[in-house]
Order: sequence, then structure tokens, then C-alpha cells
Amino acid sequence: MSTYLIRNIQQLYQVADSPRKWVKGSEMKELPSIENAYVLIEKNRIADFGTMENCPERADQILDATGKTAMPSWCDSHTHIVYAASREGEFVDRIKGLSYEEIARRGGGILNSARRLQDTPEEVLLEQAYKRLQEIIRFGTGAVEIKSGYGLTYESELKMLRVIQQLKKMSKVTIKATFLGAHAIPQQYWNDRQQYIQLIINKMLPAIAEQQLADYIDVFCDKGFFTVAETAQILEAGIKYGLKPKIHANELANSGGIQVGVKYGARSVDHLEYTGDAEIDCLLASETMPTLLPSTAFFLGIPYAPARKMIDAGLPVALATDYNPGSTPSGRMSFVLSLACLKMKMLPEEVINAATINGAYAMEVQDELGCICKGNKANLLITKPLSSLAYLPYSFGSDLIDTVIVEGEKL
Ligand code: NIG
Ligand code: FE
Repeated sequence: MSTYLIRNIQQLYQVADSPRKWVKGSEMKELPSIENAYVLIEKNRIADFGTMENCPERADQILDATGKTAMPSWCDSHTHIVYAASREGEFVDRIKGLSYEEIARRGGGILNSARRLQDTPEEVLLEQAYKRLQEIIRFGTGAVEIKSGYGLTYESELKMLRVIQQLKKMSKVTIKATFLGAHAIPQQYWNDRQQYIQLIINKMLPAIAEQQLADYIDVFCDKGFFTVAETAQILEAGIKYGLKPKIHANELANSGGIQVGVKYGARSVDHLEYTGDAEIDCLLASETMPTLLPSTAFFLGIPYAPARKMIDAGLPVALATDYNPGSTPSGRMSFVLSLACLKMKMLPEEVINAATINGAYAMEVQDELGCICKGNKANLLITKPLSSLAYLPYSFGSDLIDTVIVEGEKL
């Protein structure tokens, strides 16, 4: 069996004796680490790790990490990396004063992306999405959730989900697929919203389930998009087909999305820029991971989610990029970490927990990813020399990821 040894790691972060479900509340500021460490990889799994005194002498391949730090790869649990075209025209419109919601009301935004995607052949979409996937892997991401939602027709939603299935086959990173047919109501249904919802429920869902194209069902439950009642209707249908909810909630208003997500056992509720005490209480009594996407708040100029308040109340929090052409054209997790520190007052240890263990929970891979633990998949990132852990989020915009290892292979 081939072995790969990483030795002389100055600091090895996020070590654990066994996989952890999640890290919440005051635990989030603890980040277990080992100084002067090694990691031994056998095939694609972590076989052992510890301090250099116990380091094995031989291995088929050796990587010297003197002066560098290592940690589990990022688990980016919320992205939309399958899309046909960028939307910098709308970016300029927003600079000139239009709001994101106004652009959507005029048929731009998600509907603009849907028109472009409907006209784009599957192989072209795959080629573009694969490039984005390669890009985020270089940024240190080792597990990623990818949504549909720019198709909005039977054919194009399935086309997107097939592209995600292809990406799963082409790449070694762990990928989860989410059906987001309820991302927006196409313009021809604006006078009869139920007709589109019935298309999702009666036509898209059965085919997606039959072809096993998705792991989750998502709804954009927010002002101007889907109501709480519509969200409940769609989630119920998805659950019948074995899809667990993972929803977009409270990005544009206090929409009731958190409560409806929790009610239907969502694995995560995401965005949460508008979150009050009632929503925090609701989450505290649940198994749902609140997932925050600060680079969306940054790009749209909307309020940041109250992460500090949520963690201080005892909640876990995950961080993800939301990489998409409209509200976050970036898949760089380290920038998300910097924003979470600067704009949401999370500590460096907290952002690492949020981007590893808690991100893994949000996409149900916490049993084999998210921490350095024997038996886990060997998805790791090695940084350039850091003066301390805080240097990573502090030096925003710098590229401090030195080496990426996916399933035991160095890229
Ligand atoms: O997560 N909020 C809804 N959907 C995406 C953005 C969609 C778009 O503008 O293309 C998001 O921000
Ligand atoms: Fe999103």
C-alpha cells in the first residue's frame, strides 16, 4: 500500500481522536493542534499523525513541511458553480444605484442566468464548471456542495444536475448535489406561481429522484422569491422523494425561512443576514446548521449575519462561499474567513472550525472530513509559513495556501 508522509509540520490544526459532529458556542474558540507534527497517509486516508518524536522513518513519498502549518481542507457547503455566464453588467448597474432586488424584479438576476444557461450546451457548462472546481480546489477546498437553480425548466434543471454528477465522477473532492428548482419563479409564471411549483413537484422532482441526481432540496425562501407556505409545500414534496432540505433563508428580509427550514429538519439554513432572537431560539432547539455567507453580504452591501450573537447564544456556525455569478463571484474560502473575522467578529479559531468541522456537518460528510483524524479522507491544506494562526485571516487577499492534498494526492 502506498504511503505518503508529511513531516516537520510546524503546527497541525484541527486534530481529533474521532470524528466530531459539530463545534458550537464557546467550544468554537478551541482549535486542538499539535506542534512539530507529522501526518501519515495510506492510500487516500489519514493513517496516523502525532508529534515528530513518533514520526515513522520511511514512506513511499515524503513531503517536508518545515515552517508550514497544515489543517483539514475547507468544506464549502454552499455554492452555485454551475452557471453559463458572469453578470458584471448587473454589478455595474448596482454601482450606479440599482438594488439586487430591483434587478430581479426587472427580470435580471437569477432569471438572467437561467436564460443564459438554457441556451448553453451541457458539455460547455461542464467545461466551465470544472474550471471553477479546479480553481476552488487550489484555494484549499476539499469538499463542496453545488446547487442547480439556474435552469428553471425541466430540461435545464436536469441538465445542471447531470453536470454536477459528471463533476463527481471527474474529481476526487467530495461533492454533494442540491436541487434548487425553487430559486426563482420564471417570468411566464408570475401570474400563476402555483403552476411553476406544480412543475417542480410533479415533473422535476420525480425525474430527479428516479435518476438519483440530487442529495438535497433547496428553496430560496425570501422576500420577492418563495413564501413560507410555498417553501413548506416544496420541502414536503422533496422529503417524500428522499431529499433532505438545505435552504436559502433570511437574506433579504426576516422571511420566516429559518423556522420553516427547522420545521422540516433542514440539514442547514443558509445566509441568515436577518436573524433575530426568535430565530436563534428556534435554531438552538434544532439539529440544523446555521450557515453564513459573508462574501455575499460584502458583494451586495447588505447587513452581515449576527454570527457573534449566534455563537454567544450557544449555536454552531458554518461558513461557506456561495460562489455564484450574481451575489458572490468568488470561491475563495480564505477571503470568507477574513470577512467573518472583520465583519462578524468571529475569532480566527472560530472561523477555522466554521469552515472545516461545521461545514462538513452542513453537507453530511463530518464522519470522514473536516478534521485530522485517523481513518478520515486525506484532504488537507498546507499553508505557507504563518507567524500565528491569526495571520491567515489577517492577511486578506494574500494567497497563503501552499500545497493542497486531495485523497492523499498532492496537486
Ligand atoms: O445564494 N440568494 C439566492 N441565490 C444566490 C444568488 C443568486 C444569483 O443572484 O444568481 C445566493 O446569493
Ligand atoms: Fe446561494
